[in-house]
Amino acid sequence: MSRKIILTGDRPTGPLHLGHYVGSLKARVELQDQHQQFVMIADAQALTDHADKPDMIRQNIFQVALDYLAVGIDPKKTTIFIQSLIPALFELTTYYLNLVTWNRLKHNPTVKQEIQQKGYGDNVPAGFMVYPISQAADITAFKANLVPVGDDQVPMIEQTTEVVRKFNRMYNCSVLVEPEAILSNMARLPGIDGKAKMSKSLGNSIFLSDTTDVVAKKVKSMYTDPGHIRIEDPGKVEGNPVFTYLDAFGKDKAKIEELKAHYQKGGLGDSVVKKYLLEVLQSFLEPIRDRRKEFEQDKGEVMRLLREGTEVARAAADATLTDVRAAMGINYF
Ligand code: TRP
Repeated sequence: MSRKIILTGDRPTGPLHLGHYVGSLKARVELQDQHQQFVMIADAQALTDHADKPDMIRQNIFQVALDYLAVGIDPKKTTIFIQSLIPALFELTTYYLNLVTWNRLKHNPTVKQEIQQKGYGDNVPAGFMVYPISQAADITAFKANLVPVGDDQVPMIEQTTEVVRKFNRMYNCSVLVEPEAILSNMARLPGIDGKAKMSKSLGNSIFLSDTTDVVAKKVKSMYTDPGHIRIEDPGKVEGNPVFTYLDAFGKDKAKIEELKAHYQKGGLGDSVVKKYLLEVLQSFLEPIRDRRKEFEQDKGEVMRLLREGTEVARAAADATLTDVRAAMGINYF
């Protein structure tokens, strides 16, 4: 594949979990060697539904940066930056907002679902309502072709594509670049409670920063097949998060297939499978914990990396803004 530009990011509203890893962190680590990658800590987007908690966001910027560094996003290859420090993003957002209708914004399925979950009704903050357009600014400011994200973000990419086409058509130019989502081949990771999605707000997450004890407790409490009551009973593998996690994180595929067959036949206890899953997860998390500890001890260095990345990102976004203003003919002087 020829060298492309990647832009992706996360709202710093909490530590990142295994679902983030499967959905997009893993791809970022793999793709950073071949492509030019920007990873954004979306603090301004986090403010759209947490305007009253800037302190929480401030603390989580550092935690998310640690998560990135811990999983192996390498600041020598990837530009990690803070969204609110890139003024061009907000100017682009303003221009793009004129290219989208209110009706279209109301029908973004991810936003709709979030409004419902948060119980906003008509009292949804206006900034929250338009965050998909600010996300279009994030993506286009870097002329990104590739966006590795979880499936809940697909509507944002579609909305961005619409903005790109409309802008290029209206101003008769080819300044903006159409992005493409990269979806993980693994379906989204369920929560430890068996619910469809691992999510911090549902309280069903295993965080990358969880200690060995916490992970052990969480794995022990995991939902399995409720019909698997006695060890001799045949058990279900589909919809059983213990096996989904083994598929996602286990290396010994033959052993996992064996366990599945045994479980389905009956005679394999949940506790045995969970014990193996715990081993698998601890050995996945161990190097992540080690790297996290290293960086945690040097907050100054982490903040320096963020500042450097932010300067690089600012220059890239400014260049696009110059092109955008020229295309619109509002480059007055
Ligand atoms: N919406 C993303 C999230 O929920 C964060 C984000 C903001 C993002 N801007 C982006 C993701 C641009 C990909 C591309 O965490």
